[in-house]
Amino acid sequence: MSKTKSTYFCQNCGAQSAKWIGKCPSCNEWNTYVEEIINKKEEEKFTWRDRKNQQNYTPVPQKLAEIADNENERNSTEDIELDRVLGGGLVIGSLILLGGEPGIGKSTLLLQVALQVKNQRVLYVSGEESGSQIKLRAERIKQSNTDFYIITETNTQKIFQHAKELKPQLVIIDSIQTIFTDSIESTPGSVSQIRECAAEMQRYAKENGVSVLLVGHITKDGSIAGPKVLEHIVDVVLQFEGDHNYLYRILRTLKNRFGSTNEIGLYEMNSNGLKVVDNPSQLLLTDRSDEMSGISIASTMEGLRPMMAEIQALVSNAVYGTAQRSATGFDVRRLHMLLAVLEKRAGYKIAMKDVFLNIAGGFKLIDPAMDLAVIASIMSSYEDQAISYKYAFAGEVGLSGEVRSVTRVEQRIAEAQKLGFEKIFISSYALKGIQQKYTIQIVPVSKVYELLKLLF
Ligand code: TYD
Ligand code: MG
Repeated sequence: MSKTKSTYFCQNCGAQSAKWIGKCPSCNEWNTYVEEIINKKEEEKFTWRDRKNQQNYTPVPQKLAEIADNENERNSTEDIELDRVLGGGLVIGSLILLGGEPGIGKSTLLLQVALQVKNQRVLYVSGEESGSQIKLRAERIKQSNTDFYIITETNTQKIFQHAKELKPQLVIIDSIQTIFTDSIESTPGSVSQIRECAAEMQRYAKENGVSVLLVGHITKDGSIAGPKVLEHIVDVVLQFEGDHNYLYRILRTLKNRFGSTNEIGLYEMNSNGLKVVDNPSQLLLTDRSDEMSGISIASTMEGLRPMMAEIQALVSNAVYGTAQRSATGFDVRRLHMLLAVLEKRAGYKIAMKDVFLNIAGGFKLIDPAMDLAVIASIMSSYEDQAISYKYAFAGEVGLSGEVRSVTRVEQRIAEAQKLGFEKIFISSYALKGIQQKYTIQIVPVSKVYELLKLLF
């Protein structure tokens, strides 16, 4: 017997309601509720597993010490960045979601992993591209794996059937929005389908000890399309991001049940696939021999890695009545705050100036330690005097104009020294914590107005 039931789902956050409502009470979005028919056929829900086994299987309480600790065994993906982001490789039996905008390189990354892994049978389920398209892509990547299978199938029950025969160690689903399960009657990509498919994948992964990688598209506002619920079901949520106009891509962890979420992976999209970036600092610095005003170098941290970023500022007289302020790659509200600090605490008359700020390389950076470099570049543009490109800055600026200490100062200093910088400007409060001797000159700053004297 099957019972037919329809429910309304918010397409934005996955909230459920028995009747249609205009405004979602959980995410406050308007007009996001869509009716979905849920026709659960209970007996078909577990088709991939052995029925008899399922009936005999009743979990009993176990002592912690008695539980075999092979759960966290990991397989390498043969991709150093991805392995690090995952916390040391793919945990056997884990479900991993890789989110990202269309065209950012999700399929390329996972295909590369599928082709690189050693001693693992891989099943690549494609709901978006045909086998020949994948083959073309694999030829571009110039790698091959003999134990690699592709199937263009979107029904989960059939996928599990094939998986049962093939017994892969790694399953890649491209994408969760294109697959569907028979146990629910709504269309693929709808909230209830995504949720149910992900739950089935989770059960499959756990019971068979297979790592499953899911590709998920993200919506305009940056959340993984469909439901937030998906993020609760999976073990790891990775996000692949970058600017389409640039070659660089960052892989971040939003959630990781088996490791830290601080690590990031850096890639460069080439004509033959994604290449790991070994030296992240060099990618944000533009090559230049002549010094120009308005440019300074910030020592930032992305995840646990220090990186040097070039900050460019332009201060000019406002043409219209109100001054314009715009920032690319930097929080514009933070820029407003820094400008107010400059005006009030360092005596800069910038209320009637247009200020434009840009972070080279197309990255969005959020490290508060960039404040000092932002202030320096604005001062430099205002004074029309260049700052030596051998100077680096790392400090947070407070509302009273004080320069505050930042996390991992020593790592930042060491990175600047390694890259051949001559001076690094840091908060004077950070000085006492520094143990080692550095050859780079460390310049302590305690107030924003001091910077002016120190620089020009
Ligand atoms: P893709 O992996 O299809 O993105 P997603 O699955 O996230 O939608 O990446 C597509 C882009 O990558 C496309 O614009 C072409 C580019 N690309 C390269 O530049 N070099 C390559 O070797 C490959 C395979 C793709
Ligand atoms: Mg794709």
